[in-house]
Amino acid sequence: MSRLVVVSNRVAPIDDKKSASGGLAVAMHAALKAQGGIWFGWSGEVVAAPDPEPKHFDSKNITFATLDLSQRDYEEYYNGFANSTLWPLFHYRLDLTEFSRRTYAGYLRVNALFAGKLSAMLKPDDKVWVHDYHLLPLGEQLRQMGHRQRLGFFLHTPFPVPEILLALPNHENLVRSLCAYDVVGFQTKRDVDAFVSYLIQEVGGEVVGEKRVRAFGRTLTVGHFPISVETADIERDAQSALTSRQTERLSESLGDRDLIIGVDRLDYSKGLYQRFQAFEALMETYPDNRGRVTFMQIAPPTRTDVPEYNVIRRELETSAGHINGKFAEFDWVPIRYLNKSFARKTLLGFYRMARVGFVTPLRDGMNLVAKEYVAAQDPEDPGVLVLSRFAGAAIEMGDALIVNPYDVEGVAEALQRALSMPLEERRHRHAALMDVLRSNDIVTWRNRFDEALENAIPDA
Ligand code: F6P
Repeated sequence: MSRLVVVSNRVAPIDDKKSASGGLAVAMHAALKAQGGIWFGWSGEVVAAPDPEPKHFDSKNITFATLDLSQRDYEEYYNGFANSTLWPLFHYRLDLTEFSRRTYAGYLRVNALFAGKLSAMLKPDDKVWVHDYHLLPLGEQLRQMGHRQRLGFFLHTPFPVPEILLALPNHENLVRSLCAYDVVGFQTKRDVDAFVSYLIQEVGGEVVGEKRVRAFGRTLTVGHFPISVETADIERDAQSALTSRQTERLSESLGDRDLIIGVDRLDYSKGLYQRFQAFEALMETYPDNRGRVTFMQIAPPTRTDVPEYNVIRRELETSAGHINGKFAEFDWVPIRYLNKSFARKTLLGFYRMARVGFVTPLRDGMNLVAKEYVAAQDPEDPGVLVLSRFAGAAIEMGDALIVNPYDVEGVAEALQRALSMPLEERRHRHAALMDVLRSNDIVTWRNRFDEALENAIPDA
């Protein structure tokens, strides 16, 4: 069996006891644990004089190999091109997309650094699986170094339609580098269509068979592989998490009030401002909820060196303060807004307690919180998921209450519907959603991508 080599910007915590956060980390940890192999990427450390050689650490059947970044690389590659250009662009935020040749050069330089170090570790029959927008050029750079291994790439974010992508001065170079992989995977068919449309419209590419496209002189497999969660583990852990001290304390603090929960990185793509407004509209339009419903939004800060993230942080502080000032009573605060993260297991207990899972990104590749929330519910008395149509998850999860996050009043209506939904309908919707999560869990996702890579017909 070939060795699996996973490459991602962030490498999950090497210590098994620390909770991995974020979809990619959780998913790949599970994949490597089952299959064994290498996980290569950034250590998360920024240092004055980075060691040119990766640090290696073996944990059971996984070898972690990580590189530190210099301040300049961190600024140009991570804060710069990855998170001030590609992230906003791929999330349809042209208004926030910045472009500079300097950060683009830094992005290519760090990708080349990664490719060079990885190159020395690769064996001829390895399967290499590269993740996410930070590392689009890595495969092409490995090819230029002579590597002929099977190379797969999976994009965790949305892939924008051509009209958006064309705003990027070097769109063609980036798409060309994607075509150096043997398999390019996206979250949804919507993203595949956007990619294929670009190839056809902009560079004379063509579809040459089922899931096969030809462009830039190469033929590759393109498909959608909706990422998922460890459904069975979550079901089990959420039940036991209910009796944890933290969940009990949350329950005591709520009394008999219903809980609406949101859990997101503090990112402008998550629609938190509009979400707060929708909650305010719920309080205005359905005043019976005042004093009876608590909205807890957990939003750990992220990418704090990128200025836009501080702007959204200030907006949310103002908004939460405004809503609480307007509606709070001496014995009830409507919004509990927490800028901190919690252990995964604690979150599962919180999800299980919550009557409503509130997941309303303005644009999201998949959104695993939506899936985790559903998997964590008590099937006898499940809560209701209110889910944005712009999350990739909405395509599979049609039995949630699907909303348009820009329609604040419509979202308030959906919240009211969720809070008052009869038990039978809740059970019915939950069962339908669980069917989806059981038939496409994290293992299925991994196996489907792995199979596509295994069967990929290598192109020169
Ligand atoms: O959604 C894209 C993604 O790379 C996720 O896989 C991950 O959870 C998140 O972004 C992490 O962001 P960062 O590494 O910038 O904190």
